[in-house]
Amino acid sequence: MRVLILGGGGREHALAWKIAASPLLQKLYISPGNPGTAELGENIAGDILDPKAVLKLVQTLGIDLMVIGPEACLAAGVTDAVRAGAPGCRVLGPHRAGARLEWSKAYAKDFMNKYGIPTARHLVFSDRAAAADYLADCPLPVVVKADGLAAGKGVVVARTRTEALAARSIPPLEQPMVVEEFLSGREVSVLALTDGRRYHLLPPVRDYKALEDGDRGPNTGGMGAYSPVPGIGKDELAAIDSIAAKTLRGLLREGVEYRGIIYLGLMITGEGVKLLEYNARFGDPECQVLMSQLESDLLLYLSQAANGMLPEDPPEWSTDSACLVVACGGDYPHLPSFGLPITGIEQARAAGCLVFQAGTALIDGQLVTGGGRVLNVLGRGAGMEHARHQAYQGFAAIAFPNMRFRTDIGEEVVL
Ligand code: AMP
Ligand code: GLY
Repeated sequence: MRVLILGGGGREHALAWKIAASPLLQKLYISPGNPGTAELGENIAGDILDPKAVLKLVQTLGIDLMVIGPEACLAAGVTDAVRAGAPGCRVLGPHRAGARLEWSKAYAKDFMNKYGIPTARHLVFSDRAAAADYLADCPLPVVVKADGLAAGKGVVVARTRTEALAARSIPPLEQPMVVEEFLSGREVSVLALTDGRRYHLLPPVRDYKALEDGDRGPNTGGMGAYSPVPGIGKDELAAIDSIAAKTLRGLLREGVEYRGIIYLGLMITGEGVKLLEYNARFGDPECQVLMSQLESDLLLYLSQAANGMLPEDPPEWSTDSACLVVACGGDYPHLPSFGLPITGIEQARAAGCLVFQAGTALIDGQLVTGGGRVLNVLGRGAGMEHARHQAYQGFAAIAFPNMRFRTDIGEEVVL
């Protein structure tokens, strides 16, 4: 099979790593990829947000399966263009209509309410003044979200009145604002791989969204993750499964054919499991953790899901623990880091870590920083203590100027 992965972050590096190990693979392309994916396949430069350009690439390279990483490609309609223009190419990733679950939070909330999916109560404001009036005396904490895509950074959990009032200027002016009830509990991400009718839930992963230890600081794309997540019993799993089933039924009812990943961002509250958000793609860093634990052939599952024929048997997973820590530049999430030399990846690998690159670049043969989240270090083995220790050992080797990372990933499991 000739495969094209769209994207160039840690998620796509991990997907490429797993796909490269498949006996079904004939040739792997990644666009644009990163220096890490270049070790596994061929990187192709190109504008992956331009549906026509992607269609041309698919036709030129004779692609059998395209796997879409970033949500922006889905929202731009890349799936629509390729499925219409290159019917021989299977696509893992929904059409623009299916991806709306991610690219409009207001639509997603309406969908959840329409199909009886438990979620936080919410209001939508198109008018800033009305939002300000509401935020001036609503109960605190309160959560304010921009309606559109924001790479995980368009959500503010306001704990004080000042923060609540300041949050009204978070969404771009042309975007509505979703204001919702604050839910407290334990957060977990569960991804479902679906062919539009059948689905398999992937193991729950805990993602850390806040920049700083102790879940302080601004929200980011994700600063670390681990799996397995303790304390998710039969009841919680049944509730999560019911959310996935209702989602798929709802999509079918809406006439949306959805082949890809439905990401459920969940809160396990005292009143049961509630859905915070949908994403229409693999989460990052969750995907990296999942790839490190997957024992089945990823390419088989992705291609069959994209074909509308997901295998009946669920994929198999290692019982090992995995703990992933993200290294970012000193000014993330406000500013990316560029051109700073990165050292120590080979030593970290020699110590048993998996290293997935994200915002990296090669200049004159030297690996340098080239983005916000720069790279990911993953430890794994029997028990979280071992996995966590190994991941942080990786940071004894890896360095770049102003590197920062959270020091408490997985701590809650081992304490
Ligand atoms: P979202 O992009 O909607 O998942 O929001 C990003 C992060 O904000 C989530 O992962 C949560 O940590 C937090 N968050 C979002 N909605 C709520 C809510 N209703 N209550 C508490 N925290 C929330
Ligand atoms: N880690 C959260 C996301 O991918 O949106």
